[in-house]
Amino acid sequence: MDVKTIFVVALLGLFTACSGDTGSSLGSSEDRPNGAKLYEANCTACHGPEGKAGVTGAKDLANSELDSAKVYKLIIEGQGVMPPFEYIISSEQERNAVVDHVISLRD
Ligand code: HEC
Repeated sequence: MDVKTIFVVALLGLFTACSGDTGSSLGSSEDRPNGAKLYEANCTACHGPEGKAGVTGAKDLANSELDSAKVYKLIIEGQGVMPPFEYIISSEQERNAVVDHVISLRD
């Protein structure tokens, strides 16, 4: 290994250490944020694990017809009783992973 390779390896190690800060990506072999876990942590209280719980009047996500851009916007801004998640689900990758998961709940 030359010095450059060692540097790159060290940088990669640092990056991996930082991205694991919530612990939610541990155990996942992918770099991609885990949409199912983020959904479970932030959304099931109202929408339930399958999107159908309807607590506080939450819409049934399995019957939702919003496209992914609208779901993305709704996650950032919230709507009515649903709080905005802009600062809770703070990265674009995390939001996209949650959007994918929400869409996967549809019948
Ligand atoms: C405090 C309860 C609550 C939480 C937590 C919550 N929601 Fe909601 N959600 C609602 C309510 C209430 C609505 C209906 C809003 C309205 O139209 O007035 C809604 C609507 C939605 C819709 C629109 C469905 C449609 O077809 O109109 C989507 C998508 C959605 N929520 C996704 C999420 C996601 C993803 C999360 C987690 C990041 C989440 N929600 C967390 C209460 C909640």
